[in-house]
Amino acid sequence: DDARRIRASLLDWYDAHRRDLPWRRTKTSSRGTVNRSETESKVEAESAYAVWVSEVMLQQTRVSTVISYYNRWMDKWPTIHHLAAASQEEVNEMWAGLGYYRRARFLLEGAKSIVQGGMFPQTAAELLKVQGIGDYTAGAIASIAFNEFIGKSFQAVPVVDGNVVRVISRLKAITANPKKSATVKGICHTTFKFALHCRKLASLLVDPLRPGDFNQAMMELGATLCSTMNPQCCACPISDNCVAFSLSKSEESIEVTDY
Ligand code: ADE
Repeated sequence: DDARRIRASLLDWYDAHRRDLPWRRTKTSSRGTVNRSETESKVEAESAYAVWVSEVMLQQTRVSTVISYYNRWMDKWPTIHHLAAASQEEVNEMWAGLGYYRRARFLLEGAKSIVQGGMFPQTAAELLKVQGIGDYTAGAIASIAFNEFIGKSFQAVPVVDGNVVRVISRLKAITANPKKSATVKGICHTTFKFALHCRKLASLLVDPLRPGDFNQAMMELGATLCSTMNPQCCACPISDNCVAFSLSKSEESIEVTDY
């Protein structure tokens, strides 16, 4: 079916084109959330910390800028335990230039509370309980570091940033109806309700065997080929399944559809 073809083509493309980024060098288990050995859990917790730091940095900052910040951060605080022992001043100093200092505060406070709890939360549902970790970050850590596929209420865990909203909108040729819902600032010029709708659609697509790679592939596609202006549809691995492409509408703002 459609979802299966999309998963296969997108993951093939990702395997061939994925960028070698420092936070992608950490090991993860591929066994899902059951039957982990203690060593595996430890490796995963370290990778979860790395994914967490990188995803928080990536939320408002481009990849090329994040790399050097990320490397310096990990040199200074290689594990969550190192970070938990840092002061807010040190963390802010490390963050200088990245902006949105709230993110740095959430990282430090989150690290302290996770260390105090004694274990890195391993599911999106548990991660959401940490102050400062929202849907995006929880989904990224759970799927990338822990390979969580089936989350709460048997829904797959998607990771939906502004780029993924754009990919999904084109794939299904849908767009927010500006007359029907209030636009929420910061969510890629779209509406909150629409972003939620895209989350639902994205969660139906997530690959059960490689949820973390699938989610990163969607973000990467949105950040590269499926750009706002001049999308590179001829090179796109999922153009066969893209409704906007089939309607030759990938370049316009897509028609308003109610849902
Ligand atoms: N943008 C933010 N996080 C990302 C990730 N893990 N992979 C690709 N693009 C991203």
